[in-house]
Amino acid sequence: MKNIIIGKNLKKCYKMSKTNTVNALNGVDVEIQEGDFTAIVGPSGCGKSTLLHILGLLDRPDSGELSIDEIDVSKMKERQAYKLRAKKIGFVFQGFNLIPTLTALENIMLAGQYGGLKPKARKEKALALLEKMGLKDRANHKPNELSGGQQQRIALARALVNDPSLILADEPTGELDSKTSLEIIEMLKKLNKEENRTFIIVTHNNEVAEACKKTIRLRDGKNDN
Ligand SMILES: Nc1ncnc2c1ncn2[C@@H]1O[C@H](COP(=O)(O)OP(=O)(O)OP(=O)(O)O)[C@@H](O)[C@H]1O
Ligand SMILES: [Mg+2]
Repeated sequence: MKNIIIGKNLKKCYKMSKTNTVNALNGVDVEIQEGDFTAIVGPSGCGKSTLLHILGLLDRPDSGELSIDEIDVSKMKERQAYKLRAKKIGFVFQGFNLIPTLTALENIMLAGQYGGLKPKARKEKALALLEKMGLKDRANHKPNELSGGQQQRIALARALVNDPSLILADEPTGELDSKTSLEIIEMLKKLNKEENRTFIIVTHNNEVAEACKKTIRLRDGKNDN
């Protein structure tokens, strides 16, 4: 099985002032293989989101090694990281993070634009994804005209528009009721199984964690095995 992510001894410290620092990550090791469906769990403040952001190239570690698809990304320039991120990685967040002034279709298309898709291709792709998410009839709705579960499905479509092999989700069901959470989780599992996309999911939800085949446990910024 191919390794998608290898992280070794990842550290991240936030400096609040000269005397006050927070060691968010204190030497974390991670290994993710192609097709994995992995949960990151642990108490609030243990570094889950920090780790996810680093694995998704939204943030940089202070030290440690990190490779994605065998590319050393720990010292990669921001421009290159941006390109890699747009091409390979999709993100889903707890609060959906859709742009409120854009319609569902436009939200998905905008992500396609960032990924370099031409106008015609991104519209076709966005419409196909809306259909796949069962939301074709909601294409022209703005986020506040959609339910939480529908917004998260739009956010998932947005994450998929550039066909990433890796999808990172931070509490994707955190703002959903339990029935809707299960629907979203079923959808993620299906994308994992049928399209072999790799998922890393930060979660507090036991049902979500149980659906995951592997678990990374963190405590105080360290692996907790
Ligand atoms: N930008 C920041 N500046 C300063 N400290 C931060 C910053 N981001 C996170 N921290 C601190 O780093 C630690 C890890 O934060 P992180 O957000 O990764 O936790 P988490 O495990 O995702 O928690 P939760 O389950 O509550 O979302 C926390 O103690 C937090 O206060
Ligand atoms: Mg968090």
